[in-house]
Amino acid sequence: MIKKIGLIGLGTVGEAVLMSLKKYSSLILQKSSVNIEIKTICDANKDKRKLAKNLSAAFTTNPKDLINDPEIDIVVELIGGIEPAKSIIIESLKNGKSIVTANKALLSDSGKQIFNLAKKYNKSVGFEASVCGAIPIIKTISEGLVTCDVKKIYGILNGTTNYVLFKMLKENIDFNIALKEAQDKGLAEKNPFLDIEGKDTHHKLCILSYLCYGVWPSSKSVYTEGISKITLLDILYAEELNYRIKLLAIAKKEKDSLELRVHPTLIPIEHPLSQVSLAYNAVYLDTQPAGELLFYGEGAGGTPTSSSVISDIVGIASGNYGSIRGESKIKIKNIKDVVGRYYIRCMAQDRPGVLAEVSKILASLNISVASVTQKEKKENKLVPIIMITHKAVEDNIRKAITRINRLSMIKTPSQIIRIEDL
Ligand code: HSE
Repeated sequence: MIKKIGLIGLGTVGEAVLMSLKKYSSLILQKSSVNIEIKTICDANKDKRKLAKNLSAAFTTNPKDLINDPEIDIVVELIGGIEPAKSIIIESLKNGKSIVTANKALLSDSGKQIFNLAKKYNKSVGFEASVCGAIPIIKTISEGLVTCDVKKIYGILNGTTNYVLFKMLKENIDFNIALKEAQDKGLAEKNPFLDIEGKDTHHKLCILSYLCYGVWPSSKSVYTEGISKITLLDILYAEELNYRIKLLAIAKKEKDSLELRVHPTLIPIEHPLSQVSLAYNAVYLDTQPAGELLFYGEGAGGTPTSSSVISDIVGIASGNYGSIRGESKIKIKNIKDVVGRYYIRCMAQDRPGVLAEVSKILASLNISVASVTQKEKKENKLVPIIMITHKAVEDNIRKAITRINRLSMIKTPSQIIRIEDL
């Protein structure tokens, strides 16, 4: 069986897909009996024409040449961003083509519309490469775990932020130096906002929410905080307390609500997620009846990600691609109502009564302290006071921090980092 493909976007992933398709064509044929032919390649940069020539494929700078070609069965969209990717996908579906995409920003923004359209036209949308690059987490959840109720997800879904936090700890360096290193290595984007401020993780969590719970959350319903406020001090104090700081995507299904949030999190140092180093990704699932599962691998990079794109192409081409899941309605919990434990760091003048004042505020908001440490070492003439709380309501923690920051002996804004005792 020969299936004709149109591929739009020859960035890092697009080029790697072409290379892997060529390199592994006989293996793909052996395993699937599907013969993939790249009919047309589209990129805005005319210099990429030679890549198409190497594969005996046609080249165009106009996506319409693929979208309107009746011979093309599958359109592979690898340009990223919202437009023109969205229009390309919508027009292609309307023209009877299935889609393969790695576009997490677009799916988190318009996934509902795209999947409804795919259902209407009886076409498939492959999106394995949109979450965790090479890790086949999409097929695992939708097919391998079809019988499972996913109670909790804890994911390290962004390689750049994991690399920055890892390097800060290993090399005892500040955030900006570690970020510069990530950028120099080509890991972080030139404008690293999407990675560093948690937006990329947020996009991926929205996709996992659809897969696991049938819910496409609105952007504002998923609390999102990045790692730019995490200091080396916090990383080192967390280690002393046997915790490691990771940027986590968290989902928790309760009886009649769903928690969805992205933020830096203290997790026990001995948990396998704490060992995820460099730019690797990992997803931990707590399910019934399969129990606890952990998936680990490369979450970015052209060559690893090409494996997921090609697996979607082959799945759709051979007619083995899973059906589009239904949607459900579950209330998403407001972050202020979340109950958890917290790491609090205040920077205070070292004089009598500071701890008493801070404790008074915490007690008045029903926040119980599990441990407290005051460091003798001064940072800019201030001493760090580090507290770990028992379970408390987030709204009360926020109120407490506002009041603590107003105390005359507290000189810089206090830090709060959520804890998950996995
Ligand atoms: N920017 C992403 C990361 C890679 O750093 O993990 C693609 O999802």
